[in-house]
Amino acid sequence: MSSTENFSGADRQQPVFPELTEEVIDRMAGAGNQRLRQVMGALVSHLHAFVRDTQLTQEEWRSAIDFLTRAGQICSDSRQEFILLSDILGVSMLVDAVNHESGAGITDSTVLGPFYSGRQRELAFGESILLRDEPGSPLKVRGHVRNPAGDAIPGASIEVWQTAGNQLYDVQDETQPPGHLRATFKTASDGGFLFQTVLPVSYPIPDDGPAGQLLTLLGRHPNRPAHIHFLISAPGYRTLVTHVFMAGDEFLNSDAVFGVKPSLIVAPRRNGAGELEIEYNFGLASLR
Ligand code: BEZ
Ligand code: FE
Repeated sequence: MSSTENFSGADRQQPVFPELTEEVIDRMAGAGNQRLRQVMGALVSHLHAFVRDTQLTQEEWRSAIDFLTRAGQICSDSRQEFILLSDILGVSMLVDAVNHESGAGITDSTVLGPFYSGRQRELAFGESILLRDEPGSPLKVRGHVRNPAGDAIPGASIEVWQTAGNQLYDVQDETQPPGHLRATFKTASDGGFLFQTVLPVSYPIPDDGPAGQLLTLLGRHPNRPAHIHFLISAPGYRTLVTHVFMAGDEFLNSDAVFGVKPSLIVAPRRNGAGELEIEYNFGLASLR
């Protein structure tokens, strides 16, 4: 079946049991919150259409309930299976796309992911985000934060995080000191920032639960191309959640969470001192 072909139920003349959908939606009339009523009405209508279009069997319905139950059961303070499911189905990127302003001078956004662990220690210009030695090539990351007109944004907060060479974030790995490969920086008076890290590596998203099982059943791999996360905020500007990806990574065209945008790919280069370095300039949209 091609991706544009309809499922068998869609060519029926009459939808099955249309009055049920109407009744479920009508019973929301008393909802005090109009936005909740709108969103839930659309959800019910799309869910019912999905059941009709696919002619969902009882067995499939039971296995979906079992799947969601297992997704809930594997969640913990450091494991968020529902974010993973949203990510691998492209929902996270779509929610981002309908909410993020784009345009000239504004950096593209991408997924936050489940491994942001709150604001970290603030480091000074040029400091290292490592809390222990790390295998891999030392890397300098530099750039500026500007508004769409190109003016510097001094004092912007730049939060960064990445995995260690073993493909794990500190929150996934008891051997790493908490806060390893994470930090917060403030941009200088010219909007500039600089920090020291190691070249990031590609890694699999957690695939030992329902999200991973689904990927396998769908013939997909769990890998993300190497990247560094950035969360950049400044008063008067929209907060930017994005990554910078390393050029040449084998997974750039098949990111498990669909997070890659061409504008976010950068090639590490040797600077005059022979050090590996990337430079990336960020543009923040003004708050209206
Ligand atoms: C991440 O880049 O940290 C990430 C994003 C989505 C799912 C899993 C991990
Ligand atoms: Fe990541």
